[in-house]
Amino acid sequence: MVVYPIITTRHAIGHFMQGNAQTIEQWSRLERVFSFSVSDARKLITCFHEEMKCGLAGQASSLKMIPCYVRRPTGLECGSYLALDLGGTNLRVLAVELDGRGGANISAVSRFVIPEPVMHGSGEALFDFLADGVLLFLEKHGYNLRQNHDLAFTFSFPVEQSAINVGILLNWTKGFTAFGVEGKDVVALLREALVRKNIKNISVTALANDTTGTLMTKSYDDASCDMGVILGTGTNACYSENLHRIPKYSVSDDGEREMVVNLEWGNFDKVEMNGYDQELDRATRNAGLQRMEKMVSGMYLGELARLVILDMIDNGCLLQKKHRYIFEREYSVTTELLSQAAGGEDFLAGFGLENATDHDREAAVRISHIISRRAARIAGTAIAAVVTWMDAGFERHHTVAVDGSLFEKFPGFRTNILHILQELLGDSAEKIALCPAADGSGIGAAIVAAVASGRSGS
Ligand code: GLC
Repeated sequence: MVVYPIITTRHAIGHFMQGNAQTIEQWSRLERVFSFSVSDARKLITCFHEEMKCGLAGQASSLKMIPCYVRRPTGLECGSYLALDLGGTNLRVLAVELDGRGGANISAVSRFVIPEPVMHGSGEALFDFLADGVLLFLEKHGYNLRQNHDLAFTFSFPVEQSAINVGILLNWTKGFTAFGVEGKDVVALLREALVRKNIKNISVTALANDTTGTLMTKSYDDASCDMGVILGTGTNACYSENLHRIPKYSVSDDGEREMVVNLEWGNFDKVEMNGYDQELDRATRNAGLQRMEKMVSGMYLGELARLVILDMIDNGCLLQKKHRYIFEREYSVTTELLSQAAGGEDFLAGFGLENATDHDREAAVRISHIISRRAARIAGTAIAAVVTWMDAGFERHHTVAVDGSLFEKFPGFRTNILHILQELLGDSAEKIALCPAADGSGIGAAIVAAVASGRSGS
């Protein structure tokens, strides 16, 4: 009688210890496969510089290094512009006023959710949807349909520009697939749609990427800003380059010395993927492309977490096997939910698992930290790569304008970026200031249009 319970207890302890050891091993494996060390970061910077060099020279590279046909503003640009912003699940139409003293104001805005069938249907239907958005905006805000307005088009996808308002979509990203658009000039498609909708008073005078808009918005009142970064649904960056360092761009004699270059860094492919990254990539509509984006951006971090959760359930380290079905639907774990978990909210309760154990809840938080930490470290390293490309000796201060929900809202994301910058650059990291630049894709587009038109006050 006395012996029996002791044996039971021994068994129980033995089983617990065994389970625990296995669990510990699984967690350290997970930490290992998602680690991104300083030495990984240094290697990434070297590869990044090589790819930047090739991209700027017009040679094969995963970094497209697209000249944007615009330089940074002086702050004196002024005027009223409309902006049309397409880059994720929402379409926005905005009216922006630039005061010519570095100040910008959004005086009206309309927002439309882009229905899934429009994202995946014909290009004509997509551009009709954009033109309808413009028309609804003009009507709602009482615009005179006979008076002319300049419109800047923020189209946040890889576009090979050949002028400030001419650009060919190279390939869709972020889950868009509308057919008949790749290989076409998106400004021409927009103009045709405006004609179809009988809108005659709009001139599309500029085309911009959201990164360019972000850089322009901050540099409108801060001359030290020379880089724009998006850390949102997608990820990308642009920076201000000396014209003589863009061999593929033939310099014209218009006195310009610099040009904004869009890296399209989401497509960088020299960063090592783990098994979860590969599984995620294989199931996407653009497998093999946008590899860095799939490790860093908001569209994918939740999905990576879902794959990890399934694996941890299968390995007996999280929840119970009967809970597996809850996580089987692709993209059911959003990055927003992950962000809530990172902030300490009960993420599992959102999946109907109110009675999960403390261990399970802690595990969810830990997965969120592991995945977002790697994302932030890769993003921070890429920022360091661009800054050191511009200014290897840190001779000047660099303000980096950053927009996007990961940077703004994901707990710890910004701090993790600052950590890797510090680890990589030591004291020189102080020469880099990361500044939030909200609404870059709206205000910045207007500034691009103003720079292009040469409209400035005195
Ligand atoms: C994707 C697009 C890129 C955009 C980024 C952020 O990477 O290809 O053009 O800047 O998302 O929206």
